[in-house]
Amino acid sequence: MHSVFSRINNVSALLSSCMMALLAAIALSTLAFNADPKGDLAIASIKVYPGTARRYARTKQDLAFVDFNITADLTPLFNWNTKQLFLYLEAEYINTQGVKNDVVIWDRIVRRKEDASINVAGKNKYNFREHSASFKNVPPANYSLKYNVMPYVGYLTYGEIAKTAEPVAFPPSQPRV
Ligand SMILES: *[C@@H]1O[C@H](CO)[C@@H](O)[C@H](O)[C@H]1NC(C)=O
Ligand SMILES: *[C@@H]1O[C@H](CO)[C@@H](O)[C@H](O)[C@H]1NC(C)=O
Repeated sequence: MHSVFSRINNVSALLSSCMMALLAAIALSTLAFNADPKGDLAIASIKVYPGTARRYARTKQDLAFVDFNITADLTPLFNWNTKQLFLYLEAEYINTQGVKNDVVIWDRIVRRKEDASINVAGKNKYNFREHSASFKNVPPANYSLKYNVMPYVGYLTYGEIAKTAEPVAFPPSQPRV
């Protein structure tokens, strides 16, 4: 009896180490797969309007509205181990208190290679506000288009597709018309 059990144990230990080795090989092969997606990002316009911190709140907080154009070809990121892609537009700026902020203002999940050719003229999907209340005197921000690849097996990988060539200034806040 004892030897049967220990044999089963040995076999399953062998199988699970084979499995681990296989998974590791898959993860490594995907890392070695060096895709370099290309794209462009243009900020068409930025407007800043006065707003409030929360609905019905009295605390004032500026809201920024960013119009942008994105073209990107993400098809090189699709291989047999690509479950889905997460594409996002990030604003990076340093506020008047010297705090660095990375804010995701737009994103899209791409699940199929057929949808991986991106051509969007859009505006921010998420509220873009400055917590210290105002974008006044905040130095110009950089905008970048980034992605995560979610694989079936292995680790998330990250990358940047495009970045604004020059930082983009926040205009003065104007009353909403
Ligand atoms: C963005 O796209 C719109 C609509 O296609 C176009 O009118 C505009 O000129 C483009 N702006 C930039 C900065 O590329
Ligand atoms: C924006 O990018 C430029 C050039 O890469 C860099 O020098 C600057 O520090 C960046 N600004 C912010 C706010 O990250």
